[in-house]
Amino acid sequence: MSSTIWFITGVSSGFGLDLALYALRAGHTVYGTVRNRGKSSNAVSKIQTAGGKCVVLDVTVLESIPTVIQGVLEKEGRIDILVNNAGWAVMGAGRHEVRVYVLKSSQP
Ligand SMILES: NC(=O)c1ccc[n+]([C@@H]2O[C@H](COP(=O)([O-])OP(=O)(O)OC[C@H]3O[C@@H](n4cnc5c(N)ncnc54)[C@H](OP(=O)(O)O)[C@@H]3O)[C@@H](O)[C@H]2O)c1
Repeated sequence: MSSTIWFITGVSSGFGLDLALYALRAGHTVYGTVRNRGKSSNAVSKIQTAGGKCVVLDVTVLESIPTVIQGVLEKEGRIDILVNNAGWAVMGAGRHEVRVYVLKSSQP
């Protein structure tokens, strides 16, 4: 049986990094996004050591998203689980913003 393919945005820290490492430990295939490989080198190293792949993406640059997704689809044929984790929270104001990008992926 083929591995479950995850695409997780914002894996440089926090929930995204933890989830990426959790899925990798479970034997799944993980593509995680970071905005800056240099700034996120510790997280990138952890994910790559665990067998995952990191790709560069800023989710606010909407025109770059299809290219990144297409790259994963060309390699894997599909994305099974999309976690749009990237974002920031303004805890004091009690609100948060997470951009949602809806993508269509087809089974190979
Ligand atoms: N922690 C909480 O209590 C809480 C509560 C409510 C909602 N949330 C939401 O849960 C998500 C994760 O939270 P966290 O606590 O794990 O936060 P975190 O440690 O600050 O991680 C946020 C991640 O999102 C990435 N990111 C931010 N803006 C981005 C952008 N424009 N494009 C691509 N990546 C971007 C960051 O990358 P960089 O390293 O490049 O900045 C980082 O990897 C966030 O969406 C947050 O709003 C968290």
